[in-house]
Amino acid sequence: MKINTAAFVMSNSEVSKCPNEPLPEYAFIGRSNVGKSSLINMLTNSKSLAKTSSRPGKTQLINHFKINSNWFLVDLPGYGYAKVSKKTKGVFQKFITEYFEKRRQLVSAFVLIDIRHEAQKIDLEFMEYLGESGIPFAIIFTKADKVGKTKVPQLVADYKKQLLSGIWEEMPPYFITSSEDKTGRDEVLNYIDTINQDIFKNPLPI
Ligand code: GTP
Ligand code: MG
Repeated sequence: MKINTAAFVMSNSEVSKCPNEPLPEYAFIGRSNVGKSSLINMLTNSKSLAKTSSRPGKTQLINHFKINSNWFLVDLPGYGYAKVSKKTKGVFQKFITEYFEKRRQLVSAFVLIDIRHEAQKIDLEFMEYLGESGIPFAIIFTKADKVGKTKVPQLVADYKKQLLSGIWEEMPPYFITSSEDKTGRDEVLNYIDTINQDIFKNPLPI
C-alpha cells in the first residue's frame, strides 16, 4: 500500500471524543519505549508525525492519525512504565482499557514487543486480555536492527515457544520490524491493506 497522506487529527483521553467517522483503525500498544510512535513515523515515511523520545512515558494520550483519508493509525501510551506515578498509571490504564472496550472502529491491535527481550508477563497478560475480549491482534517485533539478521529467527522461535506454553494454541500473525532501517514496512502495510479492502466492501456497522 502506498501512503499518500498522513495527518495528525487529535489527541485525547476520552474515547467518546475520538473521531466518529466509521473508518477502520489500527492501534499500537505495548510497553513504554518499545517503539510505537517510531513505528508510526516509519510506516508513514515521516520524521516527526508521532512524538518519540528515548525516555519512556512520552505518549500520554490517544492519538489519531488519518492515513490516505480513509483509515486511522492510533498511537497509545505505553503500559508498564514504573516511573509514572500510581495515579497517572491508573488514569492511563482506565482510558486504554476503555479504548479497547468501546472503540468500535478498532479492527486490529498491534502488540509491540522488543525483539531483544524474552516474553514479559505484562505483554502476555495484555494479549490474554485482548483474546478474552475478542479483539483481533498481531504481534510486531521491534528494534530488529539491534540484534542483527542472523539472530532474528531464533529469538522469534523462542518467543513463540513461550507464547504457546500459555493459553495460545497458535502464534498470532507477526511481523519483524525496525524503524531504523524500515524492515517490515511493506509487510505491515500490506496486512493492513488486506483488512481495509474487506472493510471497504462491507463497511463497519457504526
Ligand atoms: P512511549 O510513548 O513512551 O510509550 O514509547 P514508544 O513505544 O512510543 O517508543 P518511541 O517510539 O518513542 O521510541 C523509544 C526509543 O526507542 C526512541 O529512542 C527511539 O529512537 C528508539 N527506537 C524505536 N524504534 C526503534 C528501532 O526500530 N530501532 C532502534 N535502534 N531504535 C528504536
Ligand atoms: Mg510513544
